[in-house]
Amino acid sequence: MFQKRLSLLLFLLTAALHANDDSIYHTWRTVSGDPGITRYSTLDQINRSNVAQLEVAWTYNSGDALERSDMECNPIIVDGILYGTTPNLDLFALNATTGEEVWRFSDTGEITNDPDTNRGQYYGLNRGVAYWSDSDDQRILYSRGKYIFAVDAETGRLIESFGESGRVDMRNGLSKPAPFVGIANPAAGVIYEDLFIVGSRGNTAGQVRAYNVRTGKQEWLFNLIPHPGERFEDTWPEGSWQKVYGANVWGGLSVDVKNGLVFCATAGPKPDFFGWQYPGKNDLANSVVALNARNGEYVWRFQEIKHDIWDLDLPAPPTLVTVERDGKQVDAVAQVSKTGNTFLLDRLTGESLFPLIEREAPASDIPIEQAWPTQTVPLLPPPFTRQEVTYDQLTTFSPEKRAAAAKQFIESRSGWFMPVSPRGSIMYGVMGGAEWPGPAFDPTSDILYVAGSNLPFNIRLDPVKGKAAKGAVIFGSVCTQCHAIERLAGRARKRNPDNLREFLNTGRGVMPSYEHLGEEAIGHLMDFLYADQEAMENEPADPDFVSQDYTFRGFKRFVDSDGYPAVKPPWGTLSAIDLNSGEILWQTPIGEYDELTKQGIPPTGTPLYGGPTVTAGGLVFIGGSADERFHAVDKTTGEILWRTKLPFAAYSNPSVYEIGGKQYIVIAAGGGGKNNTPSGDAYVAFALPEHQ
Ligand code: HEC
Repeated sequence: MFQKRLSLLLFLLTAALHANDDSIYHTWRTVSGDPGITRYSTLDQINRSNVAQLEVAWTYNSGDALERSDMECNPIIVDGILYGTTPNLDLFALNATTGEEVWRFSDTGEITNDPDTNRGQYYGLNRGVAYWSDSDDQRILYSRGKYIFAVDAETGRLIESFGESGRVDMRNGLSKPAPFVGIANPAAGVIYEDLFIVGSRGNTAGQVRAYNVRTGKQEWLFNLIPHPGERFEDTWPEGSWQKVYGANVWGGLSVDVKNGLVFCATAGPKPDFFGWQYPGKNDLANSVVALNARNGEYVWRFQEIKHDIWDLDLPAPPTLVTVERDGKQVDAVAQVSKTGNTFLLDRLTGESLFPLIEREAPASDIPIEQAWPTQTVPLLPPPFTRQEVTYDQLTTFSPEKRAAAAKQFIESRSGWFMPVSPRGSIMYGVMGGAEWPGPAFDPTSDILYVAGSNLPFNIRLDPVKGKAAKGAVIFGSVCTQCHAIERLAGRARKRNPDNLREFLNTGRGVMPSYEHLGEEAIGHLMDFLYADQEAMENEPADPDFVSQDYTFRGFKRFVDSDGYPAVKPPWGTLSAIDLNSGEILWQTPIGEYDELTKQGIPPTGTPLYGGPTVTAGGLVFIGGSADERFHAVDKTTGEILWRTKLPFAAYSNPSVYEIGGKQYIVIAAGGGGKNNTPSGDAYVAFALPEHQ
């Protein structure tokens, strides 16, 4: 006991002596550890020498696993209590030492358990909650579906004076009200002074909003698709603010408390792939946007991708870092992307700290699509995932598999920023590169750790004709954000026409009402849903049919006959990037398919939908792999020092905290997710055994 105290004291002393303000890295009161989303902990009781002895300290099962759980919350720990969310997005408080439930807040809400719907992405996600206090007034602010709730941190009861009886409906106060807004806020909102700042996702034009944490009043709003008279309006077609949606901040935000800035990672314009609906450079989309946190005024932006027609949303919050340049400390922002790029930007100006060049990008073979002629290449750091599928990368698992992959490859288009084609485009990016879990930054070494996936897709836009053509087009641009036609058509056809028409008019739960489309459009949609696909393709063209009529049939992976990516491994890696030199120091595959390893194939890594956390104990902790394992990696060498099988895969980032001299690492393990592993409902905390 005495020894434990002593080491804690020593630890606090060393922490206080560090050049960086380490005190903020000592607790986990904020999602990702601190407002800069650093995911670094100064705790080092668990370190290289003893990590192999880690054992489960407690497991909490929330009891509400869904068919596809997608539990992505990074829990926070405040004064010995852990706050997190369940698969069904209940909010809970646990004793962080024992895992015992203190309270649970449940709102009936409108969450769907529909296994065929991409529910997770659009509605039922929460990646973390925020804690705010003013003496005795302690609150948890959190998003569930379209609502923001303020809950008393001590009792778990709604704070009635916030918004309307404790909640704010995010459909209110939008700069462009719409009758059918589907909106939700998956990324954790951030706190700046008395403001709760959030982005959103859904079929709305991107906007960042700040709410008063005491009253729920909307204090400011910033438009990411410019309104008339606003900056960058000329990079969008006229009227975009009314017609186009997307450029949302679902990737997340971070706060520079000292300089009063909030940084937002924005998505591309939507619908994905239908770029002719938003021709232009589309400034503020696919960008890091810095705003004045107090009033939402524009400060700077850095755009990664011009006119994004690949679904390459910036997926993760910007990470606030300090790096060394010419012997000086420079405050910067690191942004990782789905393309595998890492951008390092001066925090006050947005200027890139590494050289950038513009490279010519290929044209679209859809006549009406004007792909932007160039895209940006950062000369450093090198990409941490592949950026284009090449012939050399095709699978070598068997001659048959390679031949099948080669056939598809030759029939399709591929290449750096190759636009989506009616022939199919084989590409990385749509589901990482980096994904929403983002990187971790070690302020003692200026190294950024990031998970990346090399997961190829074959994305095709099909020209449509015939009776159902118009419906196909509407389906492609409106419904595919949640449904794939292959999965939906059969179910829709089980309903009789009257019933289907009524369903589309009224909606149910998170399935929006489409009454506003009008009877004619609903009729076209029904024609499409009932159409026999082959008959549709062979029918003569509708005289009204115009050449821009293409439809998107869903996200199709480029895989071999066993479902593995049809490219050579690694399929998922953890990379260590030195932000001072721009070098990648090491890359380690994370996750494996045991059946492949048994055949003598070295660990392939699996697509990763969980992110890293780095500690002063010399370790990077990471889950996210399809093999449901949780890993501790040596942060200097990249060697996996310890791993364990979780009850379910962890599509989340771990949190690190200390209570009574004992260090814990906790991670949400809910399974489901994009790796389609079994779904569950667990939070698992690890610590060293008592006799340590
Ligand atoms: C925001 C996500 C979302 C969008 C966009 C969306 N849906 Fe749905 N849809 C759902 C969900 C969730 C369900 C399941 C609803 C339930 O059962 O509670 C559903 C159910 C359905 C069903 C019923 C399937 C059955 O089992 O009977 C049909 C048909 C359907 N949607 C058609 C459409 C069409 C057509 C569009 C585009 C005009 C569309 N949806 C757009 C989310 C969405």
